[in-house]
Amino acid sequence: MPRTGYGAWIVAAAAVGTAFGFGGGPVPGGTADRRAGVAFAHEHEEALPPGPISERHELMEEMGKQAKALNAALKSGDRAGVVAPADTMAGLARRIPGLFPPGSSHPKSRAKPEIWQEFPKFEAVAEELGTSLVALSVAAKADGDVEALGSKVMRTCKGCHDAFRLPKEKKE
Ligand code: HEC
Repeated sequence: MPRTGYGAWIVAAAAVGTAFGFGGGPVPGGTADRRAGVAFAHEHEEALPPGPISERHELMEEMGKQAKALNAALKSGDRAGVVAPADTMAGLARRIPGLFPPGSSHPKSRAKPEIWQEFPKFEAVAEELGTSLVALSVAAKADGDVEALGSKVMRTCKGCHDAFRLPKEKKE
């Protein structure tokens, strides 16, 4: 945590929460202060309702993080470094379809209605991503073509986003 500004604010917010009975009974002001502290620390997640919409947000954020590690390993020719992010991402890819149950749209979500209109296609793209990632992991361990499989993975992310994700402006 940073030691100045933001960090100090969080510490102050937590102290205020404690003073008003953080975790205690219904002390006037306590709940509001606690909420303010949480919202400040997790502003982005707080905007989404709990359940599949925020879970898929978390999943995709993790996907992005892992993809960065994967790209860095590919760029530096670190074949061994490809395996862990590829395996993690393959596991995440399998969970994608289940986090888009029918009707799980929301003003803050960028999921396009096409997901539910063409669900088998959406599912197939998620499956394709998982398959490419497994192949990439195998290739990294067995002297295969990690370059080609790596770019196939990235193309699959982009393909799904182009077809099934609203542009950023649509999100508040
Ligand atoms: C099967 C379709 C599909 C695939 C494949 C896919 N995504 Fe996504 N992704 C989505 C959708 C749909 C959203 C928007 C979800 C929402 O807002 O409810 C999204 C959102 C995201 C976000 C934004 C998260 C947020 O809420 O701010 C990131 C980052 C992301 N994806 C990264 C990736 C990466 C990296 C890959 C490939 C390794 C990938 N995605 C593969 C469909 C997909």
